[in-house]
Amino acid sequence: MNSSLATVAYIGATILFILSLGGLSNQESSRRGNLFGMIGMTIAVLATVFGPQVNSGGYAWIIGAMVIGGSIGLYLARSVQMTQMPELVAFMHSMVGLAAVLVGFATFVDPTATEGFEGAARTIHALEIYIGIFIGAVTLSGSVIAFGKLSGRIGGNPMLLPGRHLLNLAGLLVVIYFGSVFMGVHTVEEGMMPIIVMTVIALLFGIHMVMAIGGADMPVVVSMLNSYSGWAAAATGFMLNNDLLIVVGALVGSSGAILSYIMCNAMNRSFISVIAGGFGTTSAKPAAAGGAQPAGEVTPISSVETAELLRDAKSVIIVPGYGMAVAQAQHTVFEITKHLRDKGVNVRFGIHPVAGRMPGHMNVLLAEAKVPYDIVFEMDELNDDFPATDVTMVIGANDIVNPSAQDDPTSPIAGMPVLEVWKSKTSIVMKRSMASGYAGVDNPLFYKENNRMLFGDAKKMLDEVLTALRA
Ligand code: TAP
Repeated sequence: MNSSLATVAYIGATILFILSLGGLSNQESSRRGNLFGMIGMTIAVLATVFGPQVNSGGYAWIIGAMVIGGSIGLYLARSVQMTQMPELVAFMHSMVGLAAVLVGFATFVDPTATEGFEGAARTIHALEIYIGIFIGAVTLSGSVIAFGKLSGRIGGNPMLLPGRHLLNLAGLLVVIYFGSVFMGVHTVEEGMMPIIVMTVIALLFGIHMVMAIGGADMPVVVSMLNSYSGWAAAATGFMLNNDLLIVVGALVGSSGAILSYIMCNAMNRSFISVIAGGFGTTSAKPAAAGGAQPAGEVTPISSVETAELLRDAKSVIIVPGYGMAVAQAQHTVFEITKHLRDKGVNVRFGIHPVAGRMPGHMNVLLAEAKVPYDIVFEMDELNDDFPATDVTMVIGANDIVNPSAQDDPTSPIAGMPVLEVWKSKTSIVMKRSMASGYAGVDNPLFYKENNRMLFGDAKKMLDEVLTALRA
């Protein structure tokens, strides 16, 4: 393929990626968005492999790498549980970071990469390598820690070292100093030391940054690392002189940044305070590790009584959370919804922006179960409707319906907007125990007079409710 054809293919792929992002912004067009993305990526890969930058001697390596990488990807995509998706995403971000680091080092030691570069061009190339490796290393180690936190291998509590901001600042100054040294080197041997020191500091910085962020702020970290992985890919594009990678990286980087901003708004936090970390510090109440502190009596309810309440209701709101994903209860939820709607009950879904463990988690599950999009609402669209709602079913959700976010300024989740389910005539919370949610805080909703607790696995309990409804 000659270079002009490759350029045309790259432009076509870029347009498809933009259409893909546009499609993903809406549930109804998201399938089409995915399709555009897949076609765009196929064109991008083909145009790169058969493009002018690859000579025939490289095909064996490329095919070998594609077979190994493709097989691992296929296996992971097929075997991953829906609840493990956030960890998989964090893992993939770490791979993008690793790729940027490896490409950076390879470009640096490759004598042909700088052939013909003199003066300013040489400095710019060195800067690309230095920044590319830095962003890649931060993304790599930060994503590995995020993977650990999301999968529960690393505790959710923030690790707050004394003088941590000063430590970060000192690290940054050292990175800038060695950057200036790196710009002036003439040989690979001279440049190795500054670049290795910077990589180590960047790796430590990534670990430190994500370790300092706890519980409820993790959604922002996930989208932020998504953005970093985009910038790391763009940096790789600069190093490899590949325009498509630069554009795609910038698209991912900026959309991830916008998502982080939306997440921060949804959680009523400033981006800077999330990055600075400190959720759950001493100013906040101690988290109820593993189980809520007793704060009164709860009123249990059976599945048959739940079915009776639903049968008598005119309007029902369903609030799904992470527990629905764990129990894989979305199909039964849909069956119950269908049954109630057939009986004339107004059933709607209330989705919190950080419900579950990744952006859009609940929407994906409900779409999979074929719940119609027009009865799925965002938190802001529904929050005023709770007082006029007969029954609200909270299915495996906890933090996103916690009234202490509004009532208790000392709560670690204070200020986070929540679904005001306690304002409905009756709320029913389905979960297995009194354990706290992801943020590790007690939930006063459980003890409210108009709240009922339906204890048990969400899928099992909903199956029972459905049977009782049909009886
Ligand atoms: P959580 O607050 O984590 O609560 C989920 C509840 O589901 C738990 O209290 C658990 O109680 C229950 N549960 C678990 N398995 C269950 C099962 N099989 N059947 C029934 N219930 C089950 O979830 P949420 O309300 O969706 O809030 C999301 C939290 O995750 C927020 O704190 C958010 O900041 C955080 N987070 C979100 C994201 C994104 S991007 N969405 C990313 C990282 C973190 P039992 O153990 O008693 O059953």
